[in-house]
Amino acid sequence: MRHPLVIGNWKLNGSKHMVNDFIVALRNKLSSVVGCDVVIAPPVAYLDMAKRHLDGSCIALGAQNVDTHFSGAFTGEVSAEMLKDIGVKYIIIGHSDRRTLHKESDDIIAEKFFVSKTVGLVPVLCIGESKTEKEVGQTEDVCVHQIDAILNRMGAKAFENTVIAYEPIWAIGTGKSATPAEAQAVHKFIRGYIAKHDESIAEQVIIQYGGSVNTINAAELFTQPDIDGFLVGSASLIVDSFVMIVKIASSSK
Ligand code: PGA
Repeated sequence: MRHPLVIGNWKLNGSKHMVNDFIVALRNKLSSVVGCDVVIAPPVAYLDMAKRHLDGSCIALGAQNVDTHFSGAFTGEVSAEMLKDIGVKYIIIGHSDRRTLHKESDDIIAEKFFVSKTVGLVPVLCIGESKTEKEVGQTEDVCVHQIDAILNRMGAKAFENTVIAYEPIWAIGTGKSATPAEAQAVHKFIRGYIAKHDESIAEQVIIQYGGSVNTINAAELFTQPDIDGFLVGSASLIVDSFVMIVKIASSSK
């Protein structure tokens, strides 16, 4: 049985003050909520501080990026081992911000996935099509291409105990989420594609939806059989909204 998972991707937002207040409130408001794994992914500068505030809670820590190298002359980078060392559990890989703004190729993303798995972090592989690709009917091709980068590097077993986040680029930060039916169709396709390589892994891989998830659309999205949770951006910065989305994903389908 797949366990629901909600991750808050803070992107380039936050402060010491926010980390403190947010985590105190989150722990308090989620103290009686079970049935959904919860992760927050603040900027790297606050990971260690966030970890200390999360100690003793069930809320896990995620990071937003990792380098492909383990150590060496790579100024400005952070390695998977370092993230693991400070208590990070999940690592967001292949977010469209990184694919577009930082020109990360599928090969680089596959390497990041590989180093993360090697040290025991849980990769959250973001995939999804642009508006133009959607308009010309390339959604499935784009997802296949982005999943193949991992399959070709590591095989289907790579997806054991990992997460895929389907995030159509046109839905990210636009306030225009995919409809539940649209999202379900793509999630089903993704699971089916993994099943062609390994059925049991396809059955257990968590497939999150991301892209303008909020307190209004989360419930209907979550009713869809192949939507196992959410990768939440802007709504994850407001503690009450994030808590409400977690509560929705904690309810049985
Ligand atoms: P959004 O961001 O919820 O603000 O659309 C989602 C994401 O980029 O992960």
